[in-house]
Amino acid sequence: MADRHVGIRATGSYLPERVLSNADLERMVDTTDQWIVERTGIRTRRIARDDEATSDMAAEASRRALGRAGLDPKDLDLLVVATVTPDMPFPSTACVLQERLGAFGAACFDLNAACSGWLYSLDMAWGAIAGGRYRNALVVGAEKLSAITDWEDRNTCVLFGDGAGAAVVGETPRPGFISSCLGADGRWGRLLYLPGGGSRHPASHATVDGRMHYMKMEGKEVFKQAVAAMSSAAEEAIRRAGMRADEIACFIPHQANVRIMKAVAKRIGVPFDRFLVTIDHCGNISAASIPIALDEAVSDGRLKEGDAVVLVAFGGGFTWGAMAVRL
Ligand code: COA
Repeated sequence: MADRHVGIRATGSYLPERVLSNADLERMVDTTDQWIVERTGIRTRRIARDDEATSDMAAEASRRALGRAGLDPKDLDLLVVATVTPDMPFPSTACVLQERLGAFGAACFDLNAACSGWLYSLDMAWGAIAGGRYRNALVVGAEKLSAITDWEDRNTCVLFGDGAGAAVVGETPRPGFISSCLGADGRWGRLLYLPGGGSRHPASHATVDGRMHYMKMEGKEVFKQAVAAMSSAAEEAIRRAGMRADEIACFIPHQANVRIMKAVAKRIGVPFDRFLVTIDHCGNISAASIPIALDEAVSDGRLKEGDAVVLVAFGGGFTWGAMAVRL
């Protein structure tokens, strides 16, 4: 069974209704629309309602993907949610989602590789199905980053948003997944992290007073590492695919900063107009960024069946990865 073709059968995504603009942020912290646009490329991002959790957004995106694939949730045998903002530490958001969808035949788990999480999950689903022990996987990236954002810290609060993207992964008539290349380096963990609420610093009045339940970031160093890791991962995925960069219809990078994406394009020698950009209206949605961008481009016809794309991610850990995929 190891030579069966595996690929993405359908995608779906969901963005919450509420739009947070740069003008709104100007009223919250010492920032300007001009600074945010010039330094990040972000104009608006979506923010979930107070009563809307990660699994709620995941359920919306999942239903759309399953509907397009024409797949009954009962036929899923693997359900993975990539997230750093689970509904709660346990049960997993994947188990919460399973109940919402009625996907009771599926093994369920969350995967945390920060912003690279959806790509990691996609690679795992490919392996699981190619190996012959699973048939239909739902791979979801879903985040409510507004819940772990320090809305008093202008260095981070302008960057992030909420949303979810999903893909149904299964057997396809011709090869979908072509190559993959994942990596990590835990020595950089302290440059992008959330210190409180785990076993190191369990939630307490002191952790809350110390704002330890919000993410912390050394933006400049993260920027440099992101450019280097995403460039080499993309090049390696293309090399492993036995392709040339000019055969790739579209690059779908993690949406962290438009300047990071431009620097990656320059480094790998690809015109920036072949990079998909959603950060202007989404901000950085961590594990949900790539599946949302992919779904947008498939839905509006920018990407078509047969197109070769390279997905490339970078995130906390540090983690990174790239995959060459034919749609
Ligand atoms: N509005 C106005 N000024 C701001 C600001 C904001 N929202 N945020 C930071 N600044 C200020 C800084 O305080 C600094 O002021 P100073 O020179 O007086 O100290 C100045 O702008 C420049 O800050 P700097 O950190 O050098 O800016 P930058 O060009 O590196 O851009 C980031 C900052 C965060 C946008 C950029 O470093 C970045 O995108 N890093 C990667 C982040 C990321 O991708 N994280 C997720 C990875 S998955």
